[in-house]
Amino acid sequence: MATIKAAILGFGTVGQGIYHIVNEKRAELKAKLGVELEIAKILVRNPNNERVEGTAHLLTDSYEDVLAVEGLQVVFEAIVNEEPAYTYLKKAIEQRCHVVTANKVMFAKHGMELQALAKTKGVHVGYEATVAGGVPVIKTMKNILLVNDVHRIQGILNGTTNYMLTKMRQENWTYDEALAEAQRLGYAEADPFNDVSGQDAFKKLMVLSDLAFGEQPNWDDVEVIGIDTLTATDLEQAKANGLRYRHVAEVEQNEQGDIVGKVAPLLVGPEHPLYPIDDVFNAVAMETNYIGTLTVTGPGAGMYPTASVMVEDYAEIIGKRAGFTVSI
Ligand code: HSE
Repeated sequence: MATIKAAILGFGTVGQGIYHIVNEKRAELKAKLGVELEIAKILVRNPNNERVEGTAHLLTDSYEDVLAVEGLQVVFEAIVNEEPAYTYLKKAIEQRCHVVTANKVMFAKHGMELQALAKTKGVHVGYEATVAGGVPVIKTMKNILLVNDVHRIQGILNGTTNYMLTKMRQENWTYDEALAEAQRLGYAEADPFNDVSGQDAFKKLMVLSDLAFGEQPNWDDVEVIGIDTLTATDLEQAKANGLRYRHVAEVEQNEQGDIVGKVAPLLVGPEHPLYPIDDVFNAVAMETNYIGTLTVTGPGAGMYPTASVMVEDYAEIIGKRAGFTVSI
């Protein structure tokens, strides 16, 4: 039976999650796809630090070593920031590897270009994990767009801030207590300013804008307001009135045909599709012409939700290559 050789770039929360899932689901993936998946290299900063037992022989700090793996076909990328991730994935695609990424910062800027490059090389780019963790928003939207137009997207795209707002409302936790717990649970970014300021949600919104509209608003024109602007009094008043604050990222095509976006706290009532979305859950409400408004929701951060959609991306890519659709 053939073996697909893959590499993982970055071995933090998400990279380790991929490694665990690939091991745990080895037999099922092999039965469904007809090929074995072997993690052949793991790119890390310090190869002497064996974070997961039994991986020491796979660790390297040299990307040249990764690309030199004979028969390398898939690169899973789970590192933060634009560089060197962009350069790494470009090189991988040029070498005709499929790539699967969770890196929204890099993909918001280079996603369209990498997908175009991949097309010319006959390989695929999986990016479900760049937006909303374990929620299948990319594959749902791709399907919808086959027939529908999406006019507007409103989403809770950051698990950390939704978790914080939920705990502050339900348990009366302070902002600092809620943030500390989100960090302890592994939801927050390395620099949590990116979560609370709305920058993380903004990057995810730009990935969705590319998909829905084929373009992004001018980044400088998108107002991004964080949850750090909300006071305890704001939250108390909302609660007293039966309303909830959600940190909402939205993008739409306006009547002039321009694509406009915004990320900001929004006060919503029970009639709003994002009202019931609590804890680390994310949700994306898509307004379409034929279906009306469709909302998908699920865990938006964390090791296993994010890593599992990356392995799903792999399965979908390999299934496509073999000429069939993977059914779960
Ligand atoms: N820090 C992010 C969040 C992780 O809280 O949603 C998932 O992108």
